[in-house]
Amino acid sequence: MPLLPEGRRSLTAYVYNFGPGVAYQPAHRFIAADIDRHEGVWLDIGCGPGWLAIFAGAGKPELDVIGIDTSKTMIALADENKAGRLNITFREMSGADIVYPQHTFDVITAVQTAHHWEDTAAILKECWRVLKVGGQMYIYEADAEAQIPADWIRRRGGWPPDVFLKRRWKKFGMDQARWDVLKAAVAASPFGENVSDERHGFYRRLVLTRV
Ligand SMILES: C[S@@+](CC[C@H](N)C(=O)[O-])C[C@H]1O[C@@H](n2cnc3c(N)ncnc32)[C@H](O)[C@@H]1O
Repeated sequence: MPLLPEGRRSLTAYVYNFGPGVAYQPAHRFIAADIDRHEGVWLDIGCGPGWLAIFAGAGKPELDVIGIDTSKTMIALADENKAGRLNITFREMSGADIVYPQHTFDVITAVQTAHHWEDTAAILKECWRVLKVGGQMYIYEADAEAQIPADWIRRRGGWPPDVFLKRRWKKFGMDQARWDVLKAAVAASPFGENVSDERHGFYRRLVLTRV
């Protein structure tokens, strides 16, 4: 019998937890170290199995990190992965409908999730609303044309090789045309021109500032 859509989504989340969820851990450590926040409130949208939120919040009791994801299974896996850390919370929630008051967050991250968004305009509007004035939103998407720095991927027995990762990013990620569409959506959002287009490791990233 074929899996029902929710069953298929759960299976995908389990596979992600043991595959990409492990392989991308070094990249998520680099992102957390680069943003380097020690206090305040950090929101990670599309947190998946939670590793960016965990690396961002580990050992930082003055920083609250909240990871949200539309997948119930991803949230359950992230809750297991956080191993009881009290300043890290995971909640089933869409970035298009964030149940926090305006000006709650100092930082928002969104890693490898923007290519899934069905309503980018609504998500950007919500992020603008919940960011504090001066706060920043970072949107990362892997670039299939980029060099992959040697220490950014955790490999077991050489797996996954670069060629496999790049094939996945070509299939599931954003090429330059999709990146340009995302940039146009940012320009049309309340963030407007307060954005910089950057690179970090094998990611393209947009850094949006809430003025
Ligand atoms: C490829 S995974 C990336 C997970 C994690 N950020 C990482 O880099 O490993 C994309 C995640 O975005 C989530 N997602 C998609 N649309 C979303 C939305 N509107 N709000 C919150 N999460 C969303 C999916 O459920 C999925 O877990």
